[in-house]
Amino acid sequence: KKIVVLMGGPSAEREVSLNTGKAILQALKNKKYNAVGLEIEPTRLFDQLKECKCDIVFNAIHGKYGEDGYLQGALELLGIPYTGSGVLANALAMDKVVSKRLFVAGNVSTPRFTVYERSDLSENITKEIIQEYSLPVVIKASTQGSSIGVSIVENVDELKRAIEDSFKYSEHILVEEFIQGRELTVAVWGDKEKSALPIIEIVPHSGKYDYRSKYTKGATDYIVPAKIDDNLTKKIQAMSLKTFKLLGCKGIARIDVMLGADNVPYVLEVNTVPGMTETSLVPKAAKAIGISFEELCEKLLLMATK
Ligand code: DAL
Ligand code: MG
Repeated sequence: KKIVVLMGGPSAEREVSLNTGKAILQALKNKKYNAVGLEIEPTRLFDQLKECKCDIVFNAIHGKYGEDGYLQGALELLGIPYTGSGVLANALAMDKVVSKRLFVAGNVSTPRFTVYERSDLSENITKEIIQEYSLPVVIKASTQGSSIGVSIVENVDELKRAIEDSFKYSEHILVEEFIQGRELTVAVWGDKEKSALPIIEIVPHSGKYDYRSKYTKGATDYIVPAKIDDNLTKKIQAMSLKTFKLLGCKGIARIDVMLGADNVPYVLEVNTVPGMTETSLVPKAAKAIGISFEELCEKLLLMATK
């Protein structure tokens, strides 16, 4: 069977996707799969998919078109099996505003938030935010990844610039309560049977887990499994599994969690096409239970055809 690893795409995370895609391609080749890589051009996508005559797609495209349900819709129309979640789960998870509304509806705790659209922009917006949230406060673009369009604002002067920056990337922005605490992430995987992998604690040397801390080798320490007592570990894993199911995810997803100072966990977001680069998190979680990167890729591939 021919496997095509799709990568690239037009999003701000293009470079990350190319690294994810190349790593996956190499892993599948090492496992003796007939795999090739393909960089997509959105306007030619249907032709590309037909021309490559592939039997299964391994999706390594982050962000726009790859992680928002568009690609999955095209693959459904063409009848090509693919890794990861389907149309709806991708679309829901890509939109931080919509996913947070679902967390609230599904009783998954998430930091308090307010949503603004472009037409809400006025002189009053900064005043409103300061009144409602104490600083620091988090400003996020609704539909981005890798911390692009995200700012943790510590003083009033930075607020306006942060809002404008987030609006560069999406139609809606999210103002979110800043949770002081420990930064965690939990990979959840499965098809019919779903389970959470060990929790990873993320300790960026700079104090901020931003784009640089995410993709610069050595810039962040990762502790797997996170040093959290058994009861709380189980609670956070159960919460992550619940979140995975709430959005209807499949294959793999990575749930980002903040553990507040009072040991209360909050779900921030779900990543349906998590990074699989050298510095990425999901491969570290798999490794902690003795699953190599190659085995991880193979398992995800096999789930695509079930
Ligand atoms: N959005 C990046 C790729 C991640 O979540 O790993
Ligand atoms: Mg994300």
